[in-house]
Amino acid sequence: MCGIMGYVGSSKAAPILLEGLAKLEYRGYDSAGIAVFDKDINIAKAKGRLQILSDMVDGGEKIEGCMGIGHTRWATHGEPSDVNSHPHYSQNKTFAIVHNGIIENYLKLKNELMEKGFKFVSQTDTEIVANLLEYYYNGNILDTIIKATSRLEGSYALGILCQDDKNNFYAVRKDSPLIIGLGKGENYIASDIPAILSRTRSVYMLEENEFAIISSDSVKIVDSNKQPIEKTVRTINWDVSAAEKGGYDSFMFKEIMEEPKAIRDTIHPRLSDDSIVLDDITLTKEQLEKFNKIYIVGCGSAYHVGMVGKYIMEKHLRIPVEVMIASEFRYCDPIVDEKTLVIMISQSGETADTLAALRECKKRNARILSIVNVVGSSIANESNDVIYTWAGPEIAVATTKAYSTQLTVIYLIALYIADKLGKITKEELKQYITALRKLPDQVQQVIDKKDEIEALAKKYYQSSNVFFLGRNYDYAVAMEGSLKLKEISYIHSEAYAAGELKHGTISLIEDGTLVVSLATCDKLFDKMMSNVKEVKARGAVIFSLAKEGNKAVEQESDYVFYLPDTFDMLLPSLTVTPLQLFGYYVAKARGYDIDKPRNLAKSVTVE
Ligand code: AGP
Repeated sequence: MCGIMGYVGSSKAAPILLEGLAKLEYRGYDSAGIAVFDKDINIAKAKGRLQILSDMVDGGEKIEGCMGIGHTRWATHGEPSDVNSHPHYSQNKTFAIVHNGIIENYLKLKNELMEKGFKFVSQTDTEIVANLLEYYYNGNILDTIIKATSRLEGSYALGILCQDDKNNFYAVRKDSPLIIGLGKGENYIASDIPAILSRTRSVYMLEENEFAIISSDSVKIVDSNKQPIEKTVRTINWDVSAAEKGGYDSFMFKEIMEEPKAIRDTIHPRLSDDSIVLDDITLTKEQLEKFNKIYIVGCGSAYHVGMVGKYIMEKHLRIPVEVMIASEFRYCDPIVDEKTLVIMISQSGETADTLAALRECKKRNARILSIVNVVGSSIANESNDVIYTWAGPEIAVATTKAYSTQLTVIYLIALYIADKLGKITKEELKQYITALRKLPDQVQQVIDKKDEIEALAKKYYQSSNVFFLGRNYDYAVAMEGSLKLKEISYIHSEAYAAGELKHGTISLIEDGTLVVSLATCDKLFDKMMSNVKEVKARGAVIFSLAKEGNKAVEQESDYVFYLPDTFDMLLPSLTVTPLQLFGYYVAKARGYDIDKPRNLAKSVTVE
């Protein structure tokens, strides 16, 4: 989704804005622009890649001025075009703004402003905000921003320049992310941490309806009554190199290579010899005993993690677990109350549907436990408890290391609750802890065999249909494998519960169709092989993933990738990596832009 960057200090703003926007490219965009205050506010913007804009302004050198705002736009209202790109001026160029989010009542406001004589040059909802500022402008910029934003329905993070203030720029947010970076003699705003990570590690997380007035040497934050708000400075300890490609051809590949470390960082500090240590959560045994239902909610890959979680938690806790897609859940009048534990999963912590689902649950007094990667993000802030994944910044649109760390947190939560409720013995828990400790090395062993996956991808990269089959948690991982393939290689693929295929979809199997069979679940192995036989009989080529030592799988498979042995429940962590690699190698063989797949955005902050 859109990316915002803002700067004020003593250096030329334009090159810094472009540098920050480059770090936000991963969010997905179709045009880019900057507005810099010199004597007037000058805007440069263009449809297409950031490089086009950068070439236009000679890397920013052509533009004078030490304060400015920049934007990468992911089109919602109006096609990608030069004119629809941000920043947008207000009619008389008193204001220039950048916006991330959607103004839901924009048509009503547009008509109202047109009746008052305002003219619009773009099709965007953002230009309405610029003109609303102009309309309410009474010489006091902050008052004007407070008044204008009180008219907005929907979501917004706004960066605002005003022609009458050469020292400050302004920011406000509601339901869209925005952080403020604190430097020495310079300050920033950004949609996400990577944009400013090489410049500062001290940030304020701007919260709902907080207004920021930012100059080179001060950041003032007030509420809508102009009362000052004391903010806590957060220190970001992400490694700068983690947000750089560092010699790899894509962030996605680099992030897969980082999985062993990300998993280690996420689980090891939470393991003692005989218990799972979740200091991050405040749930007591009494509270845990009270829950009679668990919901797991997320979008895309996060939802798929939830699917794995359902199988694991129901088995170990014997509590009904329902997994819901956030965009559906938020509108289904969910039946949750104080006896429900709701686990929200989100890498970014800003996904609009997940955040809205969280709020629906809070209204109904459910207890919210979130699994989030970005510290201080909205979902983290609004939850009762948060368990952070320590995956570091994830840049590629296709999630890999974040998914893998989310899985491990699901294991930790399941075992933690099982232990607290006495559903597993201390001896069993110890065995799981030993197995968890081995997991990062086992993922590394899988990665070390990546050539096998590459060879397979090179053979099948021209497939037009690929099917992923599994049972139980293998089915949940099949869903993720299928999503990975389609989102970056644009090959049609489906994930099916293996026993379900013959209820219709098997008619799509023809000679040479690639079927990826996830066959790691011991107790269902024979059933899985029966399903594999069914598709093989109809001409499918079978690529199976199975546990080391399972020779039986070879009888039914054309290719087998063996996984190190561990407890069934932990196997999704080993099964998913070859599938992520398969998606990556196929997309590479097809020559696609792996980190920025078409039509997709990293952080989906609009509905
Ligand atoms: C997966 O590769 C996608 N990028 C997407 O499905 C993603 O998992 C989803 O949009 C949820 O994002 P979140 O984890 O930031 O909430």
